[in-house]
Amino acid sequence: MRFAVRYYTQTGNTKRLAEAIAEEIGVDAMPITTPIDEEVDVLLLGNSYYAFSIAPEVASFVSSLSKDKVGKIVNFGTAAMMNSTYKKVRKVANTVGIPVLDEEFHCKGEFKGMNKGRPNEDDLKAAREFAKRLKETLK
Ligand SMILES: Cc1cc2nc3c(=O)[nH]c(=O)nc-3n(C[C@H](O)[C@H](O)[C@H](O)COP(=O)(O)O)c2cc1C
Repeated sequence: MRFAVRYYTQTGNTKRLAEAIAEEIGVDAMPITTPIDEEVDVLLLGNSYYAFSIAPEVASFVSSLSKDKVGKIVNFGTAAMMNSTYKKVRKVANTVGIPVLDEEFHCKGEFKGMNKGRPNEDDLKAAREFAKRLKETLK
């Protein structure tokens, strides 16, 4: 399986998750400004909520993907209060014909004094375990 990790972050929380996940998978975590140049079976995409939605940059990135290059997307991210961005990402991914796996990772992210320190060490550990399981399952 060929994996890639891309993330979008405004305050660093998603980047920390992305780095933990990427390290476990054995690839580099790169921002979404780094295009997917080579074919990958699984793109792990880190993104979070901003004003009740995914960032327009994330929507543009997903719409720019080609199903000839990206087999599947796995969603991960953080939010202060809301649940995962899964449905929003899947909606955009559907428009380019790339499936989003049911498996996803989501945890709380610090925002304006809420969820202080999140993602914390326990979150990062859970993210690594998620990545490890995913890698084993998709072998
Ligand atoms: C401008 C802004 C708007 C946000 N809006 C929401 C929101 O609508 N719902 C929510 O649950 N969290 C919201 N958050 C919290 C972020 O989703 C959370 O802090 C997340 O961990 C940010 O990830 P990042 O550090 O990778 O940017 C917002 C954060 C920012 C900075």
